[in-house]
Amino acid sequence: MTKPGNIRIDLVSDTATRPTPEMRRAMAQAEVGDEQRGEDPSVNALNERVADLLGQEAALFLPSGTMCNQVAIATHCNPGDEIIAAEASHIISSEGAGAAVFGGCFIRAIPTRTGIFSGEDVANAIRTAKLKSPRSRLVSVEQTCNRGGGAVWPRAALKSVVEMARSHQLVLHMDGARLMNAAVASRTDARDFAASFDSVWLDLSKGLGCPVGGVLAGSTGFIEKANVWKHRFGGAMRQAGIIAAAGLYALDHHIERLAEDHDNAQAFAKRIAEIPGIFLDPSEIETNLVFFDVKETGRSAADLADHLISQGVRIGVEGKTRMRAVTHLDVDRSDVEEAGEILASLVSDK
Ligand SMILES: Cc1ncc(COP(=O)(O)O)c(C=O)c1O
Repeated sequence: MTKPGNIRIDLVSDTATRPTPEMRRAMAQAEVGDEQRGEDPSVNALNERVADLLGQEAALFLPSGTMCNQVAIATHCNPGDEIIAAEASHIISSEGAGAAVFGGCFIRAIPTRTGIFSGEDVANAIRTAKLKSPRSRLVSVEQTCNRGGGAVWPRAALKSVVEMARSHQLVLHMDGARLMNAAVASRTDARDFAASFDSVWLDLSKGLGCPVGGVLAGSTGFIEKANVWKHRFGGAMRQAGIIAAAGLYALDHHIERLAEDHDNAQAFAKRIAEIPGIFLDPSEIETNLVFFDVKETGRSAADLADHLISQGVRIGVEGKTRMRAVTHLDVDRSDVEEAGEILASLVSDK
């Protein structure tokens, strides 16, 4: 399936970014070697940079964020283990039940609208050790939680989860697909969110604007074991420096600018909140994800999405009446303003 050629403003995901000419130049000039043998200088440099950024000892370049989650789960858990995570988590909704398939794990879902939970929620989800129970093993946190609406986990909430998990000898994993959005939005060093976790990863292919890749970080011992799983999953690469160079470029040039995506998301949210029948609270939009409900317009999300596409705008369908617009490097303020106006005229044009 190819992307419809008429899409001018693509708000379907922050994965829609294409590498900039400067990023492509950095990729073309990358020093490369055999990554699988640990001999690619660009990959090694990227791993070091990300480990340092996240306050961890070591890191491992992987082809995707999904693989970062799955390698971490397989490394931390054994079959029969249970993972505690928010109901809205990507590992529950969007990874083909990989935790069950590869790790042999259950996931115990904490019901929370924003994807943010507390130490007490973790305590309530931990199983009493019994012959017949799954073994509670891992707590997974998504910073920010995609289907929770992109709200930033406050450090106090993270601290309470970390303390509760540690007091029950549970391991901690952070899905950091949008960790840098959280860091920029809250003016917090990424390591202040990430350093107390046993594993944490960054996605390069979302807001950071790279064509591919994620970097999983943790202790040296964890990364050594994770590297075995990387190989088992077929994720070991060869001259991967070409794509790691995009990551290095993004760490230098695409982090601070995430604030523009957040401002654009805010502008879009404020505009569409004025449209009769569309419901969202712009004050809840903290980063680059804008979820909204269209029920009162009398139209379904799918119908609106189709009509938007016919006018060159793509917005995601997240349910019968729920939609998601995501801002990123490839859309600017005038794009989100235009998308807001097109949506307004479609809704008034019953
Ligand atoms: C929170 C979250 N985790 C993991 C992923 C998976 O990342 P990837 O698409 O790089 O596999 C995504 C992708 O949308 C995500 O939003």
